[in-house]
Amino acid sequence: MCSGQLYDTIGATYTVTRRTEPRIAAQIWAALGDARTVLNVGAGTGSYEPPGRDVTAVEPSALMRSQRPAGAALCVAAAAESLPFEDQSFDAAMAVATIHHWPDPIAGLLEMRRVARRVVVFTHETSDTGWLRRFWLSRDYLPEVADLLVGRPSLNELAHSIGARTEPVLIPWNCADGFFEAYWRRPEAYLDDHVRRGVSVWTIVGPAAEQRAVRTLRDDLASGRWAERNRDLLALDAAELGLRLLIA
Ligand SMILES: C[S@@+](CC[C@H](N)C(=O)[O-])C[C@H]1O[C@@H](n2cnc3c(N)ncnc32)[C@H](O)[C@@H]1O
Repeated sequence: MCSGQLYDTIGATYTVTRRTEPRIAAQIWAALGDARTVLNVGAGTGSYEPPGRDVTAVEPSALMRSQRPAGAALCVAAAAESLPFEDQSFDAAMAVATIHHWPDPIAGLLEMRRVARRVVVFTHETSDTGWLRRFWLSRDYLPEVADLLVGRPSLNELAHSIGARTEPVLIPWNCADGFFEAYWRRPEAYLDDHVRRGVSVWTIVGPAAEQRAVRTLRDDLASGRWAERNRDLLALDAAELGLRLLIA
C-alpha cells in the first residue's frame, strides 16, 4: 500500500481526535518565518495550516481531502514525490506528520526544496531511537513500533538531503492533536478505540498486537502497575519523545 491509499482506508474518523495543537503550531509557524505563500504537503484535513498566509495544500487521499473544512485552502490531489508546481513557486513548503508515509521521503523533501525557498517538516527521530525506550507505550506495550522504523532513512539523512537543521518539539501533557505519543501522561486514552483509529501505527501493527497492548495496559492501569512504573511523568508538563522540526 502506498501514498494516500492507507488514508483512503483508515482516514474516515481522523478529525475525531486529530487537530491543530496550538503550541506545536506556534513553533511550526515561527519556522515558516515571513513566508507569505505556503505549500502544505500531505495536508490531510488541514491541521496546522497557518492563518493569514496564502496556503495551497497537496493531499493524495480523496477521503482526507473530503474532510477539509469549508473555507480551507485549495487542495491539489498529488503526492510529495511529484509536486505539480514550477521551481520556487512558494516562499515556504511545510509537511506535518506525513513524511513517514511517503514511499520515498527523500524524493519528497527534494521536491519541497525545489518548489519552495524554505522547507519546514514536523517528523520524528529515526537516528537516535532512545525515545522508543523513554516512551512507556513503545517500551512496555507495543515494541512492534521499532519494526516500523526499519529501512527508513535516518533523521540525519533526511536533514542532510535538504541541508536542514533540526529542532526538538516538546509534547505538552494535554496535547490537543491525538498523534501516537500525544497521550504520554494520559494513558487511559489509549484504551479508547477512537484515539487508536486516529493513529496509523495501530492499524499497521495489526489487530493481534493492538489487542495485546490494550489488554495489558488496561490490566496495568487497574492494578496500579502503570502508575508505579511511570509516577515520575505526573510531575512533567511536556515530554521530549523524539519529535523534531527539520528547517531548511
Ligand atoms: C497522519 S496524516 C497527517 C495529515 C496532516 N498533515 C496533519 O497534520 O493532520 C498523513 C497524511 O499523509 C498523506 N500522504 C501519504 N502518502 C503521501 C505522499 N506520498 N505524499 C503526500 N502525502 C502523503 C496521507 O494521505 C495523510 O493524509
